[in-house]
Formats: sequence, structure tokens, C-alpha cells
Amino acid sequence: MPNSKSSVLVFLFSHFFFFFFVLREAAPIYSSHVCTDSIKYQPNSTFQFNLNLLLSSLTSNAAKGSHFFRTQLSNAINGLFLCRGDTLTTTCSDCVSAASREIERRCPVQKEAIIWYDLCMLRYSNQSLNNFVPSSEISNTETVDPKNKERFNEILAGLLNSLAAKAVISHVDKFETEEVNFTRTEKLFGLVQCTPDLTAFGCNSCLKSAIASVPICCDGKLGATVLLPACNIRYELFPFFNTTPSSNPPAIRSPPSGRSNFSVILGFVIPIVGVVSLFAFGFCSFTGKQGRDMLLSWRKKNLPEV
Ligand SMILES: *[C@@H]1O[C@H](CO)[C@@H](O)[C@H](O)[C@H]1NC(C)=O
Ligand SMILES: *[C@@H]1O[C@H](CO)[C@@H](O)[C@H](O)[C@H]1NC(C)=O
Ligand SMILES: *[C@@H]1O[C@H](CO)[C@@H](O)[C@H](O)[C@H]1NC(C)=O
Repeated sequence: MPNSKSSVLVFLFSHFFFFFFVLREAAPIYSSHVCTDSIKYQPNSTFQFNLNLLLSSLTSNAAKGSHFFRTQLSNAINGLFLCRGDTLTTTCSDCVSAASREIERRCPVQKEAIIWYDLCMLRYSNQSLNNFVPSSEISNTETVDPKNKERFNEILAGLLNSLAAKAVISHVDKFETEEVNFTRTEKLFGLVQCTPDLTAFGCNSCLKSAIASVPICCDGKLGATVLLPACNIRYELFPFFNTTPSSNPPAIRSPPSGRSNFSVILGFVIPIVGVVSLFAFGFCSFTGKQGRDMLLSWRKKNLPEV
């Protein structure tokens, strides 16, 4: 029988090693996933072969330093990944590797799937990616003190709308973060990101849809994340992104008193509508059918099922 003292030591040492060297490496954190159960492939089929090629193409492009990569393999499978705009190459690459392993584990036979991590998203489909628009929301269990709720919603709507407006006109990565004062001691931190292949209109429709779902999924929550395939938004009362010096933090408007919940919800939605009309013309003339399809799929998602 092996010396039990030494096996205890090995046990302790390996755990020590694990906690200090593995966990400190901040493993990617899984958020959510969706598999389309109606379309399936057979094990060892051509589809699985192509899927494995696609996943290794995505992971190797992440390793080379891309934060976004979209590809199609032999007309049979489309896929992409997106890392959060403030991730380093190694963090992005680790996240995409974890996501590609995990998507195969969680969706082992489906021809269409999406997985979200805290710092990346990965998806694939045998059809157009634009037709697959699942969503997922994660919210803090804690809620804002009712006496501060109106002010909180006002500031939150202002923050998210201002971030969306900036991301929409971004020519680079369509990723924006910002912090604003909430109370004397607390700040509200916000983040929005669109996949960089979207048009201004596509990014705006996506962010508008994500922001509009905040009062529904996450009313009064102290933090929330809305995940869509083409964009995501998040806010928290603590810093959760790497701050880069931002030029002009917007001043906080003091909320007018006596607003109803209804107008607070409208406050989330209305400011973006103007931007939508602004971009609608350019969108329709530049992206044609693809744009219309995307618009239709967004509309499909936003209308309740009958
Ligand atoms: C798939 O192929 C592997 C190795 O070629 C084999 O071990 C496995 O049994 C096959 N699975 C099916 C379901 O055919
Ligand atoms: C995707 O796969 C499903 C199920 O195998 C099939 O019915 C559908 O036609 C495929 N779509 C495309 C665009 O190939
Ligand atoms: C936010 O709060 C800090 C500290 O209370 C203050 O110094 C700063 O001027 C405030 N910023 C704005 C935009 O009001």
C-alpha cells in the first residue's frame, strides 16, 4: 500500500498548484448557449468534419490576434467568433478555445449553435447566420433601492443610449464603454458591442433591441447583461472592463420628477428611433436584400409569437 502521508502531501500540493497557478489564470467564464434542436447531423458525417475544420479555423485566427473572425466553409457551414473589445490576444484566444470545446460538448449533434462567454461569443450554422437570432439575459439578483429606481433607470437609459450612439458610428470595432456617476459614491459602468461586420443600421437595430429588453428582463437590477448574436450590452455598479482614458464623459442629467414607468421604458427606446431613421436610407441602399433579411429576422424576434 502506498504511503498515505505522501499521498496526502501530493493531494495538497496538487490542489495548491491548481488554485495558485490554474485559477489565477482567470479561466474563461461560460455565460449561456443555444442549440437549434430541429437540425441535426450524424456523428462522423461530412458536416462534423467541416464543423471541426471551422472550429479550428476560428481558434487559430483568435490565436493570431483577431478579435472578430467570420468564415464560411465549402458553402456548408458559416461561423464566427467575437471577443470583447478590451481583451488581450491571449485572453481572447483562451476564451475562443474554451468556447469551441464547450459548444461541441453542449450542442453535440446540432447544425446550428451559439455560445456566449463573459469575454467572447462563438457561433456556427449550416444556414445564413442572419436567420438565427436567439437571445439570453443574465441579471444581478440584487435590485436598486425603490427610492432611487427612477433616477437609476434614467441614468442607465442615458448611459446605454449614449454608448449605442457611439458604437453605431464607430468605424473600428463597434465597442464602447463608459462610466457615469450614480450616487455620490457609486458609479454605473456600461458596455456595448456589435460584431464589426454590421452596418450602422444593423448595429443600431441590434443594440436598440438589447436596450429595449432591459426594462423587461432586468427591471431595477443592479447589473445585467443582454446577449444577442450580433451585439451585447452590460451594465454594473462595479468596473468590469479595462478602462481606457475616455475623452468626454457625458454630464449626468438630473432626472425630472414624477415620471411614470411607461415613460422610463420609452426613454430607453425613443432616443434610438431617430438614429434608426437616420441610417435607414443608407442601410437600404447599401445592403439590399441581406439587410432586409436581417431586419426581418430582428422583427420576427421582437414580435411576440401568436
Ligand atoms: C466515428 O469514428 C471513430 C473513429 O474513426 C469511431 O471510433 C467511432 O465509432 C465512429 N462513430 C460512429 C457513430 O460511427
Ligand atoms: C441545414 O440542415 C438542415 C437539416 O439537415 C437542412 O434541412 C437544411 O436544408 C440545411 N440548410 C442549408 C442552407 O443547407
Ligand atoms: C462624479 O463624481 C466625482 C466624485 O464624487 C466628481 O469628482 C465628478 O466631478 C463627478 N462627475 C460628474 C460628471 O458629475
